[in-house]
Amino acid sequence: MDFSIKAFNTKNAIAEHKTGCVVVGVYENSKLSAQAKLLDSKGVVSTALKTGDITGKPGSTLLLHAAAGQAKRVLLVGLGPEAGMSDRNFISVAQAVARVLSSLGAADALVALPIDLIQGRDAQWGIRSLVLALRESVYRSDGLKSKKDDATNGVKRVVIGVDGSLQSQARTTLLQSVAMANGLDLSKTLGNLPPNICTPTYLANTAKQLAKEYKLNVEVLDRKQLEALKMGSFLSVTQGSEQPPKFIVLKHMGGKAKDAPVVLVGKGITFDTGGISLKPGSGMDEMKYDMCGAGSVLGTFRAIAEMQLKLNVIGVIPTCENMPSGRATRPGDIVTSMSGQTIEILNTDAEGRLILCDALTYVERFKPAAVVDIATLTGACVTALGHHNTGLFTRHDQAHDALANELITAGKASNDTAWRMPIEDAYQEQLKSNFADIANIGGPPGGSITAACFLERFTRKYTWAHLDIAGTAWKSGAAKGATGRPVPLLTTFLIERAK
Ligand code: BES
Ligand code: MN
Ligand code: ZN
Repeated sequence: MDFSIKAFNTKNAIAEHKTGCVVVGVYENSKLSAQAKLLDSKGVVSTALKTGDITGKPGSTLLLHAAAGQAKRVLLVGLGPEAGMSDRNFISVAQAVARVLSSLGAADALVALPIDLIQGRDAQWGIRSLVLALRESVYRSDGLKSKKDDATNGVKRVVIGVDGSLQSQARTTLLQSVAMANGLDLSKTLGNLPPNICTPTYLANTAKQLAKEYKLNVEVLDRKQLEALKMGSFLSVTQGSEQPPKFIVLKHMGGKAKDAPVVLVGKGITFDTGGISLKPGSGMDEMKYDMCGAGSVLGTFRAIAEMQLKLNVIGVIPTCENMPSGRATRPGDIVTSMSGQTIEILNTDAEGRLILCDALTYVERFKPAAVVDIATLTGACVTALGHHNTGLFTRHDQAHDALANELITAGKASNDTAWRMPIEDAYQEQLKSNFADIANIGGPPGGSITAACFLERFTRKYTWAHLDIAGTAWKSGAAKGATGRPVPLLTTFLIERAK
């Protein structure tokens, strides 16, 4: 899908734009939006409203097979009440438009909606929401089906109409939105790939490909190098697997050479059986999504590289499988992490923290401005926050409150929200071990918090935040698949940091 911006003013009217379909909004009280009025010189829109076929309810649509101005068809979309269009309403508007356009016989469309009248949001936000909704509607996960899902005709070229005054900023926003959509796509596609294809080696090759395409620096460490680094905790997780582990380091150095980088660390378990603490069989296929932290780091790199973001960002991905075997780690095993802290592995299914802790020690060498790890870490986080919010954890001091607020704000701005959870000493006590420095589980109460507390012990040399995306990275049920989250949050966070 190809996007462009077109500015309209009095000389250059919406009605004069030649297109297969023009999309305009109508309000709930049968009132026309400003753009709809401009199309209505022959009464095409107002006549349709009089029939009562469209109520103006947010997201309702009516396709008119009548020409208006230079457009062959008109798609009316309900905007809701005229006073104060909410952002939620606008998202349902964008999704409804996307749904109709993706099956239309026209090849191109002009979308002329009041994107500058969304309450509490700017036109930039409106453009990004439109692009993401349109791209979402054409995303397919049929790459491995021999008979592809119905290929609809669908609009291929979308022109977003904006007011002349918004033109130059709108173009930048469009570039960034398309880059973000490309990053989301990559993240979704990696998440949806089966675990026999999306192996640690596959993720490493994806990183190498990105590096080649966008001239990024990439390094992939193998088992020998991980042994030399004394990553005993990470290596304990890979022990039962035939697939070799990889440790990916990807660098986008768009900032000044001396600027401290932001480091993103993504959990890359390409399949989580639980290991010897084997998971129940039902639904175990979904544990292919246990690399979505890694996928979101790669997706975010795709986005920031494409938009040539002026910021130093380093992505670090520890990736392996968690499998049972005669060589696998046993519950009760004690391993030594790269930090020197010894860990009693009481449950081999709490493996995410075991690979992340060594990565979090490794990144000290970058003297980071901030480190954010992203992980499908705990089922407990899904219980706590459901599928709406990513769990956000940091220490509670001034520097960390500031980082937490940056991430929360980026989440709100990009419709990819996070909710802050506590890290406190009282929870740390649940990680006591009789035989090692720390146990890898803290019992059922507050499971997502004790997991974050475990990671916290490896992050004391820098400012750090942890995102638990177990509830937000994918959907179960009929719409099963990866969501690409939190690529929008991370990309927006980095765009703001680059300002
Ligand atoms: N990858 C899982 C977390 C997970 C579970 C993500 C369900 C999405 C849905 C993680 O490795 C795991 O197994 N965590 C355990 C921790 C427990 C053993 C302390 C969990 O959440 O049950
Ligand atoms: Mn697990
Ligand atoms: Zn896991």
